[in-house]
Amino acid sequence: MLKNFVKDLKPSSTLAINETSKQLEQQGKKIFKFGFGQSPFKVPEDVVEELKNNAYQNKYLPMQGLEKLRETVAKYSSKKKNYNYKANNVIIGPGSKELMFLLHIIFDGEIILPAPSWVSYAPQAILGRNKIQILQTERENNWFPSGEQIEKIISKDKDKYYLLFLNSPNNPSGQVCNKLEEISEIAKKYNLIILSDEIYSELTFSKNFKSISSYCPEKTIISTGLMKMIIQVILQNR
Ligand SMILES: Cc1ncc(COP(=O)(O)O)c(C=O)c1O
Repeated sequence: MLKNFVKDLKPSSTLAINETSKQLEQQGKKIFKFGFGQSPFKVPEDVVEELKNNAYQNKYLPMQGLEKLRETVAKYSSKKKNYNYKANNVIIGPGSKELMFLLHIIFDGEIILPAPSWVSYAPQAILGRNKIQILQTERENNWFPSGEQIEKIISKDKDKYYLLFLNSPNNPSGQVCNKLEEISEIAKKYNLIILSDEIYSELTFSKNFKSISSYCPEKTIISTGLMKMIIQVILQNR
């Protein structure tokens, strides 16, 4: 009943890590869990209040997301990124994971996935049915792809479209990308779009995060999420 490429998918490695750590805890071992990025904090009171105040609303929302929320996100992003984003440039979803998955479904080209990278990118890319180019990163490059490495892949067939997943600050390495300018040059030169997963952007020790959208906004899709943003704000206010 299921398509073979779905049957061949391996179980989620974050769930596997969670199961293993539970077993180790049951054996009395002290475990520091780095599997789930779930909030250990209480939902802030004002967020809970607003949710309560709006629970009566039962109408379908616009497909792209609540207009007022999109306007707020556009205003916040414009200020942060020094670029003029409009509400129309923003899409709201139940999680960035789902929106990234939809991007895989609609995109027609090759996916460039740096390795190592967040565990969900590869299975989603497989389900998206595009060709996947795994790009092995090196310690010397801070575990990010270099412009040269990306160009090497693209120059084999310049007519295709390419979608690079760039996650800075990075899960799992924790590093911030310092090759944004050279990567953006490649994006400008070829049919390359960048999905810039900036979900941990408010959480850098030295506040040295910069978005690739500062170099090539017209080639960048920024992805981020409210839940992780709330964690980061709570941590910063401690
Ligand atoms: C790098 C990265 N991107 C995206 C996500 C997904 O976040 P969400 O679907 O909650 O927006 C995660 C979750 O752990 C993540 O680590």
